[in-house]
Amino acid sequence: MKAIVRYKYGGPDVLQLREIEKPVIKDDQVLVRVRAASINLGDWHFMRGRPYIIRMMGYGLLKPKLKSSVPGGDLAGRVEAVGKNVTEFHPGDEVFGMSIRTFAEYVAVKDVGLVPKPANVTFEQAAAVPVAAITALQGLRDKGEIRPGREVLINGASGGVGTFGVQIAKALGAHVTGVCRTRNLDMVRSIGADKVIDYTQEDFTASGHRYDLILDVAGNHPWSECRRALTRDGILVLTGQSGRKEHSVLPFIKVAVVGPFLRHRVRTFIAKRDKKDLNILREFLETGKIRPVIDGTYPLGEAAEAMRYVQEEHARGKVVLTVARA
Ligand SMILES: NC(=O)c1ccc[n+]([C@@H]2O[C@H](COP(=O)([O-])OP(=O)(O)OC[C@H]3O[C@@H](n4cnc5c(N)ncnc54)[C@H](OP(=O)(O)O)[C@@H]3O)[C@@H](O)[C@H]2O)c1
Repeated sequence: MKAIVRYKYGGPDVLQLREIEKPVIKDDQVLVRVRAASINLGDWHFMRGRPYIIRMMGYGLLKPKLKSSVPGGDLAGRVEAVGKNVTEFHPGDEVFGMSIRTFAEYVAVKDVGLVPKPANVTFEQAAAVPVAAITALQGLRDKGEIRPGREVLINGASGGVGTFGVQIAKALGAHVTGVCRTRNLDMVRSIGADKVIDYTQEDFTASGHRYDLILDVAGNHPWSECRRALTRDGILVLTGQSGRKEHSVLPFIKVAVVGPFLRHRVRTFIAKRDKKDLNILREFLETGKIRPVIDGTYPLGEAAEAMRYVQEEHARGKVVLTVARA
């Protein structure tokens, strides 16, 4: 089968289209013929091997281990075969979900990482959802304790996590303000934001307005500044740092250590694969509560080009790789 592989850490040029062995499924796995896979900034981190802590997590110190040579975490496709312990899926089913090694024609996925693809979305739209939307959902609901009527601000509202953040916060009944650059204001409004702030014109931390919850995807303000924009009981959830050059783990370590002693609740987290949450997202898709925003699609063989675009961190919503029909 064709797959994107990388045998060393580095920039997008390390991503190459190669012919490799088709995976063999275990008893609890499903073989999926991938039709689309979306790119996340996490894929960029694993491609670069940065921050270096990634290399110490068993992925390979000097170069990626063979088991992690195929990147990718999101997928949508059609079931080709199932292991003998899998009862939920059958050959021919359309599915989407989270796995590893998804930038390939076939992937062996544990059944807990898959849910049925709603009929009202394309494979490309379904593939755009899992990692980014689950991050937004877990950040807003579990860490941010979102409630109907709360005032929520999403800093970085126009990217992968942010576009789902705006829509999920609306679906959960919040009043939503989205922060992005000028060219994305209309798009963020069109997906449901009640208010938009252009960060090139206005600093939301200095306006005097206070929010019950800030989901900070961009991370371009220190938390001391973000906390100025929180109500007394407000919660700041740090999700990413697209607006910073260095991409260091230090802000997250600091939050874990100092966070519990601060007056405001400041939290961070790593999104987890969770079948219950994938099913919530499936329902949101079916009922039209979320509509993936797709900046562009690239054929699998142009993964390096797609990654070059994603690494600029200004994609509007998601970038998706498409795998040609057999
Ligand atoms: N904690 C987790 O489990 C988890 C999971 C997924 C992702 N993440 C992290 O979350 C972050 C965002 O991921 P993503 O997929 O949403 O990325 P993305 O699609 O590239 O979006 C980046 C967002 O940041 C904004 N931005 C970029 N530079 C900025 C700046 N200088 N000032 C203010 N805003 C700026 C962009 O807005 P404009 O384009 O409008 O400027 C855009 O809304 C990344 O750091 C990623 O690693 C964390």
